[in-house]
Amino acid sequence: MSDKRKRLTTEGGIPVGDNQNSMTAGYRGPTIIQDVHLLEKLAHFNRERIPERVVHANGAGAFGYFEVTNDLSKYTKADFLSEVGKRTEMLARFSTVGGEKGSADTARDPRGFSLKFYTEEGNYDLVGNNTPVFFIRDAIKFPDFIHTQKRDPQTNLKDPDMAWDFWSLSPESLHQVTILYSDRGVPATFRHMHGYGSHTFKWTNAEGESVWVKYHIRTDQGYKTLDEETAVKIAGENPDYKTEDLFTSIEEGDHPSWTMYVQIMPLEDADTYDIDPFDVTKVWPHDDYPLIEVGKMVLNRNPKNYFTDIEQAAFSPGNFVPGIDVSPDKMLQGRLFAYADAHRYRLGANYETLPVNRPKVEVNNYQRDGAMRFDDNGGGSKNYEPNSYDGPVEDPSVKQATYPVSGLADSTPYDHDDHYTQPGNLYRLMSEDEKQRLVSNIVGSMKEVRKEEIQLRQIEHFYKADPDYGERVAQALGLKVPEEVK
Ligand code: HEM
Repeated sequence: MSDKRKRLTTEGGIPVGDNQNSMTAGYRGPTIIQDVHLLEKLAHFNRERIPERVVHANGAGAFGYFEVTNDLSKYTKADFLSEVGKRTEMLARFSTVGGEKGSADTARDPRGFSLKFYTEEGNYDLVGNNTPVFFIRDAIKFPDFIHTQKRDPQTNLKDPDMAWDFWSLSPESLHQVTILYSDRGVPATFRHMHGYGSHTFKWTNAEGESVWVKYHIRTDQGYKTLDEETAVKIAGENPDYKTEDLFTSIEEGDHPSWTMYVQIMPLEDADTYDIDPFDVTKVWPHDDYPLIEVGKMVLNRNPKNYFTDIEQAAFSPGNFVPGIDVSPDKMLQGRLFAYADAHRYRLGANYETLPVNRPKVEVNNYQRDGAMRFDDNGGGSKNYEPNSYDGPVEDPSVKQATYPVSGLADSTPYDHDDHYTQPGNLYRLMSEDEKQRLVSNIVGSMKEVRKEEIQLRQIEHFYKADPDYGERVAQALGLKVPEEVK
């Protein structure tokens, strides 16, 4: 054996004598079970796949840092935002939503924008999208919505009929649908898109004073999109286009960066503002709540191994640090459960101990054992609390900020039901060319809808947002806006 090369071993570290020929009983005899290296190889290969993410399965990611450029400590005591110049290591993962792992990167679909900040007070995850709003605003509708974005149970095909059926029956989706079918629906690359926390969050300062915030993470590469024709062409030629773009640019030293901003709303405005600030289908107009710079994120390190660094990455809106809290947004509340639950299923109970998820700070608690426990499992320390053996104890100074609630426990809808003003405003802001592309993208999909009643119901929503919007879609589909809608 050449001493330059390492000796091949089994998983048990035992040197392997032959990795090219399986062991047989005689020259033409059957393969024998005592070739344990062969057995291990075949068995491990059969177990290479773990469940892909139920949504956002297709993605790419990289490591980097976040640096504070503006002192906002009067709004939040979050340690990683505490002083200008402070740097925090981070991981970002970008994804499409509906497609399976390996599906085309240039699909018309929102893009996931997941950030993990390895702060000195534990991991802060901001698990957002490239759009400031979402299709629905209550977690109870999420599984139904996602089923319409996936495959038909019989044909196993993606089916615009399901998507438009659901959207036309869920008018709160109109804002996000308008963004999705506009130019913004296919970002040119992951590097050329903005990110948003989308939900409203709460920031609390050292004095215990809170504000509502929304995050905007704006690309420094310039905002670019792809038209439908180019996106479809690239999907055929190079489905991994955006993954390749991100990896290659970082490898070549062209490190993408984004500038993070927040909109800040005083707590008391939430009661009087004419838009429900917790409704994730709405934006806060910048005239009312301008963008305030927070810092810059730079991605400068590619994963060493895609599976361990990106596939095993587990982001959760439930990972928030002192100074940052959730809001009563019903989608966000549901997400606090969904992600950690998904990780326990996909990666196992000890997923936070996997290298990419492990916080850069000491972890002290009384959780023990479970499948694949591969740290020291608390060693000989006590596994219960309270105890008399100097075990870890709570710190009341980091309790979440309080929030007054009143009323009946009930299944209560949002009480602001204007689904049309913001999508209408967005439509009216578009140039003539943009409007034409929007309508053409919508019609490209809606013409596949089998039931005319679904098409007409959706046209009604477009019409209510702006009569011209509804008329154009109706005309392009060879239909008429129903008289009773006008
Ligand atoms: C991934 C659930 C809404 C952004 C996921 C995953 C689940 C999930 C189960 C897979 C997690 C995994 O296996 O790693 C939900 C539920 C929602 C919801 C129940 C509504 C109640 C949203 C919204 C956004 C969003 C509103 C953005 C604003 C993402 C992103 C990922 C993801 C970016 C990929 C995370 C990664 O990069 O690993 N979601 N989601 N989701 N979701 Fe959601």
